Amino acid sequence: MRSIMALHPCEPETPEASGVSMSAAADMSIQIENAGKTFRRGKTETVALEGFDLAVGRSEFVAIVGPSGCGKSTLMRLIAGLTMPTTGTVSVDGESVKGPITNLGIVFQKPVLLDWRDVLQNVLLQVEMRGLNTADYKQRAHDLLDSVGLGSFEDRYPHELSGGMQQRAGIVRALIHDPPLLMMDEPFGALDALTREQMRIDLEELWLATKKTVLFITHSIDEAVLLADRVVVMSPRPGKVETIIDIGLPRPRGLTARKSPEFDEAVDTITQIFLAKGVLRGGRREIRPRKIED
Ligand SMILES: Nc1ncnc2c1ncn2[C@@H]1O[C@H](COP(=O)(O)OP(=O)(O)OP(=O)(O)O)[C@@H](O)[C@H]1O
Ligand SMILES: [Mg+2]
Repeated sequence: MRSIMALHPCEPETPEASGVSMSAAADMSIQIENAGKTFRRGKTETVALEGFDLAVGRSEFVAIVGPSGCGKSTLMRLIAGLTMPTTGTVSVDGESVKGPITNLGIVFQKPVLLDWRDVLQNVLLQVEMRGLNTADYKQRAHDLLDSVGLGSFEDRYPHELSGGMQQRAGIVRALIHDPPLLMMDEPFGALDALTREQMRIDLEELWLATKKTVLFITHSIDEAVLLADRVVVMSPRPGKVETIIDIGLPRPRGLTARKSPEFDEAVDTITQIFLAKGVLRGGRREIRPRKIED
């Protein structure tokens, strides 16, 4: 198995090297101003997001952590143009998002694979939908699938795969067209602990090599700190930015960053916020929430 990083577009085995035109911009920026999203069903209203502000710079790796139901997936759908904000604005590369944007790769929380297509055909669907020539992308698909351990499962159908394998196929599908913006919604949630650790390391390597803009949603505080340049901590619903923490850990962080005091400090800061907000509760012998400075 090779690393996802081996599929960096500069490497000779990629479609780019074989004459396929990949995305012009290597990265994209995101601007979200005072965004709100309210879902209405009859007389019932659910305010998923409220007064959400965030600017993600080009080539930045931003992780979002927040409790279940705080609007993380909704936020991702707003940026992708799959749903519109009730208030405020969402822009990508300075352009207001008015409908689905295509120049991005999305890994959804649940792998959305078509039951009647095998793994390879599910990956190539992304290419077909963009009107690109699938033959040009087949080698890249093989290589990417191989890099996530699915090399010998290309002709299997989704029901023949484990949850983790389906999710890995979804990750490959998001990367096949080498998008400048990658949005991942709890992408490693269904993976076993070892594969999850390896995928995290591979993702960091991919990012270091390609400098895509990455928005990474996770429930794991450790994962957010290990991957991101900045961690956005969201409040319980209605979700807004509680705080943003800069992570200055040197890269590549790989397996060693967990041992550094800065890692512990960042994890502790986020944990304290969740304790203070009642998202986490300490055990009897554990630390008590400390007052969070404004
Ligand atoms: N299409 C919808 N219609 C009605 N309510 C919705 C819809 N999508 C999301 N919601 C509500 O909006 C809130 C935020 O949902 P969302 O899926 O964004 O949360 P989340 O932070 O991604 O949660 P999780 O961590 O569990 O995935 C929830 O209360 C949810 O019930
Ligand atoms: Mg979600």
